[in-house]
Amino acid sequence: MIRVAVVGAAGYIGGELLRLLVGHPEVDVVSAVSSRFPGKRVDGVHPNLRASTDLTFCSADDVDECDVVFLALPHRAAMTQVDQWSGRAKLVVDLTGDFRLNDTKTFERYYGTVHQAPQLLDDFVPGLPELHRERLRGADLVSVPGCMAAAGVLALYPLVAHDLIDTEMGAQFDARTGSSGSGATAGQANLHAERSGSMRVFAPTGHRHEAEISQHLGLKATMSATGVEAVRGVQIICHATLRPGVDKQIVRRAFRESYADEPFVRVVAHQRGIFRYPDPKILLGSNFCDVGYVVDENTGQLVTIAALDNLVKGGAGNAVQCMNIRMGWPENLGLTFPGLHPL
Ligand SMILES: NC(=O)c1ccc[n+]([C@@H]2O[C@H](COP(=O)([O-])OP(=O)(O)OC[C@H]3O[C@@H](n4cnc5c(N)ncnc54)[C@H](OP(=O)(O)O)[C@@H]3O)[C@@H](O)[C@H]2O)c1
Repeated sequence: MIRVAVVGAAGYIGGELLRLLVGHPEVDVVSAVSSRFPGKRVDGVHPNLRASTDLTFCSADDVDECDVVFLALPHRAAMTQVDQWSGRAKLVVDLTGDFRLNDTKTFERYYGTVHQAPQLLDDFVPGLPELHRERLRGADLVSVPGCMAAAGVLALYPLVAHDLIDTEMGAQFDARTGSSGSGATAGQANLHAERSGSMRVFAPTGHRHEAEISQHLGLKATMSATGVEAVRGVQIICHATLRPGVDKQIVRRAFRESYADEPFVRVVAHQRGIFRYPDPKILLGSNFCDVGYVVDENTGQLVTIAALDNLVKGGAGNAVQCMNIRMGWPENLGLTFPGLHPL
């Protein structure tokens, strides 16, 4: 068993990490850090974990040396605390945006602040197994992508990897997200009275995850993001232009080849049925990302769609998958459950 600590354990991602880690057969969760609740039982804040753990929250100073530390902190907190945690753990898995972008100028533009640890940016391996599995095997520092970024990258990656789209034209992404994406301490915008029934465009341009998608895919991505009436879930639709001569069969082969051996990406290509396109509703609680596509051969336009649970494949589950790879365990250890249906 390895010793694992979760920092920011009282938040939504922290709670989801604890849910996955207390059930993981190779992990002993030794510390759950919260500055607000030291001494309080974890299941007092995360009631879904009643009877799953007797753990109590602790403060950061009480964390002993361990094998892995997960940072589920707000943006900007990880880059100021990373030295403190890498000194205490062999592997640091960061879930914030602090080490996702490898260019400081881009970071400053999207986060509106100067990076506090630019010397470490190249040391962080992106926590996206589908693109960076080999590097993750030797990583000591891992940066897990944002939830909409993970969905956006997985939606288009096969086409980019097989050079099937016109990269000069870039790609346009339109994302929908549930309210848990804003964290457990969100303000007025996430009050039930304000959110219920709303389809709120909160980032028509300039969302931070757009920069991640551009970086991973090596093209200009633009993205709009809308909050919809759901607690969990991300769905993203991507529009791109196919290179001349690329037809449905070629696109299908690219998806199959890219994802045939991926344990957590399912290519959804059904002709009929109410769930024939990726929909987060049937993924909730699971570590799967579903991807699908439609080719309009008359116009040469490609539409791809991806869906995932923002707290699992879009965050905590992806982080656990990265830990599994780094530890040399089966990649799906502790993550094999499907989503719920109906819900
Ligand atoms: N929500 C999602 O869907 C999602 C998906 C992927 C990635 N992420 C990223 O994961 C991180 C956590 O997100 P979240 O949704 O779980 O947020 P959250 O619910 O607001 O939780 C953040 C936690 O960090 C702790 N914290 C706050 N300020 C801190 C500081 N300065 N130093 C140390 N701890 C501090 C808080 O607990 P205490 O005050 O008790 O310490 C809080 O519980 C964010 O960077 C977010 O972008 C979120």
